[in-house]
Amino acid sequence: MAGPGVTGGMTTVGFIGSGNLGGTVARLAVAAGYEVVLSNSRGPQTLKELMGELGPLARAATPAEAAAPGDLVVVSIPPRACPAVPVQPLAGKPVLDTINYIPQRDGRIPGLDDGSLSSSEVLQRHLGTAHVVKVFNNITFWHLASLARPAGAADRSAPPIAGDDPAAKVAVTGFLDAIGYDTVDAGTLGSGGRRFQFGTRAFVAPYGALSDQRGTPAGVAAVRAALVA
Ligand SMILES: NC(=O)c1ccc[n+]([C@@H]2O[C@H](COP(=O)([O-])OP(=O)(O)OC[C@H]3O[C@@H](n4cnc5c(N)ncnc54)[C@H](OP(=O)(O)O)[C@@H]3O)[C@@H](O)[C@H]2O)c1
Repeated sequence: MAGPGVTGGMTTVGFIGSGNLGGTVARLAVAAGYEVVLSNSRGPQTLKELMGELGPLARAATPAEAAAPGDLVVVSIPPRACPAVPVQPLAGKPVLDTINYIPQRDGRIPGLDDGSLSSSEVLQRHLGTAHVVKVFNNITFWHLASLARPAGAADRSAPPIAGDDPAAKVAVTGFLDAIGYDTVDAGTLGSGGRRFQFGTRAFVAPYGALSDQRGTPAGVAAVRAALVA
């Protein structure tokens, strides 16, 4: 049953990748009343502990089984795993892409290593008709957990989003609103997304020192300033 935060008939969120960042988004989604279906690379049996924490709105599945029922699907995996993301069950859906390409961590990946493609463009090319929206990549999972605020709170943060499909952006904006965030539209998936990828001023820094678990709220004005800098 849809909970109080669930908007626009979007009631189920699928997850490809359920680690630090994916698991944090899942916690926020369940708190807002969404049903969540989580997956990882090792199989549903390895997600038992997280399922116990998330409760009856959550179940574990394979990536294809998590993608199929999702009104929205969060892809939160290392960039090298992109070719493994199931294509058909994501066709036409809003896909929330949290991926960063960090060369020192991820090594050389053709297309990404020379900057000719962003990680979001690689995912979009792989997925075809799915509507990829870049989001959450520029905030650490602990700040994402601690900075969620109710709608209308003066200290609500507004992470940037980037994508090419207006309806998908509306759906993602509604989801973020339900889980505790406003948004700033940074533009298209390619050039807009590059404005807050790894290495930019809008990456991580707007939400305060990494050592501060609580983080610093970054509203619309602060995020816009970081995007243009
Ligand atoms: N950590 C952060 O604060 C943060 C913040 C913003 C963005 N990000 C980005 O979000 C992505 C995930 O980061 P993370 O910190 O959550 O990483 P993580 O804790 O290592 O989790 C990665 C998840 O991806 C899954 N995975 C790997 N290969 C897969 C595949 N082929 N199919 C399905 N699932 C697969 C892993 O499953 P197994 O464990 O079973 O292999 C795991 O659940 C990265 O691109 C990262 O740069 C991270």
